[in-house]
Amino acid sequence: MRFYANFKMHHTRASTTEYIAKLNEELTSIECDDITIFPPATALQKSLGKVVVGAQNGYFEAKGAYTGEIGLTQLEEFGIDTILIGHSERREIFGESQEFIAKKYAYYKEQGFHIVYCIGEPLTVREQGEEALFEYLYAQFEGIDIEYEKLTVAYEPIWAIGTGVSATVEDIELVHNRLKEKFALPLLYGGSVKIDSIEQIAKIKSVDGVLVGSASLDAKGFATLIKRGLGV
Ligand code: 13P
Repeated sequence: MRFYANFKMHHTRASTTEYIAKLNEELTSIECDDITIFPPATALQKSLGKVVVGAQNGYFEAKGAYTGEIGLTQLEEFGIDTILIGHSERREIFGESQEFIAKKYAYYKEQGFHIVYCIGEPLTVREQGEEALFEYLYAQFEGIDIEYEKLTVAYEPIWAIGTGVSATVEDIELVHNRLKEKFALPLLYGGSVKIDSIEQIAKIKSVDGVLVGSASLDAKGFATLIKRGLGV
């Protein structure tokens, strides 16, 4: 099981450093080598112990005149080689198009990064039935090389993000099983994963891990979630 934490616009550099120390301490006796946190850009730092640090975002250049962005040079300073691409908040709030996302993907693939590539549908699409749902999800793979060996896909239905209402086991299986038939890729589920729901989600065969937002923000809480997910 993989446990990934997306801090979004939470935590500072100081609190992220404390978080990493605390999470390592909580997980001393736990065997799990796939824990990654994605802090805000200002809190990027080197991975430590069991905790890998990844970036929530990055522009598709090493450096240059791109006000407000960070690129490869800034990520390399901290030895970052894992990046989230295609998160629904980037798509919806910041208007990132599939074409733009595909450029980021191609660039960070070229750099040999581990890419956590996010897909997910809004409720209006889900309500239109399975055909519309898969048409929408497959369109999010346009321009994305799914043969890339360092690709992990995260399925995050938008209606389950930050709502406290996770998708049901059946909802998750419907999408994950179909994606697994199509692509042989590690597949994460994200969307209101909580300490109380992780056991059920971790049992789903087609779930290789989780991408957690709010329930990851407290190090002790995230450690509990990890332990429950591993059944220890
Ligand atoms: P929540 O766990 O807060 O619903 O966020 C999920 C998410 O968007 C992770 O990327």
